[in-house]
Amino acid sequence: MIGIYLSGTGNTKHCVEKIVGLLDKTAAIVPLESADVIEQIKNNDTIIFGYPTQFSNAPYMVRDFIRENCSLWKNKKILCVATMGAFSGDGAGCAARLFKKYGAKILGGVHIKMPDSVCDSKLLKKSSEQNREIIRQADKKIECIAEQIKRGKYPKEGITQIAHMAGLFGQRLWFYKKTAGYTDKLKISDGCTGCELCVSLCPMKNISVKNNRAAAGGRCTMCYRCISLCPQKAITLLGDEVVEQCRYEKYC
Ligand SMILES: Cc1cc2nc3c(=O)[nH]c(=O)nc-3n(C[C@H](O)[C@H](O)[C@H](O)COP(=O)(O)O)c2cc1C
Repeated sequence: MIGIYLSGTGNTKHCVEKIVGLLDKTAAIVPLESADVIEQIKNNDTIIFGYPTQFSNAPYMVRDFIRENCSLWKNKKILCVATMGAFSGDGAGCAARLFKKYGAKILGGVHIKMPDSVCDSKLLKKSSEQNREIIRQADKKIECIAEQIKRGKYPKEGITQIAHMAGLFGQRLWFYKKTAGYTDKLKISDGCTGCELCVSLCPMKNISVKNNRAAAGGRCTMCYRCISLCPQKAITLLGDEVVEQCRYEKYC
């Protein structure tokens, strides 16, 4: 078994680490952007694959990775784990359908509500205590799921036909354009000091520093990792001001 995740503010990293840790303490857990991810996939048949839901879809980087490496998935057994700030009809199904198309066997789907990661929007913002409670509930759910899986019963959240319809017509069609590709809309303000932290954090290698100022290219996957960790709060995407730098570690 192996755990793979894309995580912006740490939520999905935590969830995948917890699920995998409860199922197989010896399993490796690697970020999607790590250099040895392909090798790890080749060497493991069972994959716990996690990502944050974005506009009721899987992040573009996740879908791109699955498509670009389509030959890797044949006969792999995959459990898709989608974290979310509110609700998703078929967050887990968005990657599961792609994996299935390339020959994987989908073991199941898991939806886990976690603190919202959109640092530059007031919408869905909760107090620290509320976020701690959300994480406590998520942890309980994961423990329950791990027990079920040990008994051979996999949850099917987000991967049924009904979930697909709910996600597509209730959510994704409205936001389709937002997740149709990478974005070039990352904004870096005059507050930037050129510290290069964002350069090292970006899973897409989409940020560079020139003349002591960061500049973003056109391949942002909207994970919010740079926004949530910029010491100057100088980076925004959907909003124009950082409301709160959300990080899993702040609430745990
Ligand atoms: C660009 C963007 C879009 C999002 N869209 C949704 C959404 O449609 N539904 C939802 O419940 N949460 C949404 N979220 C919240 C994240 O899915 C949630 O906070 C997730 O746990 C973040 O995980 P991470 O810290 O591993 O990146 C969105 C977050 C971002 C950054």
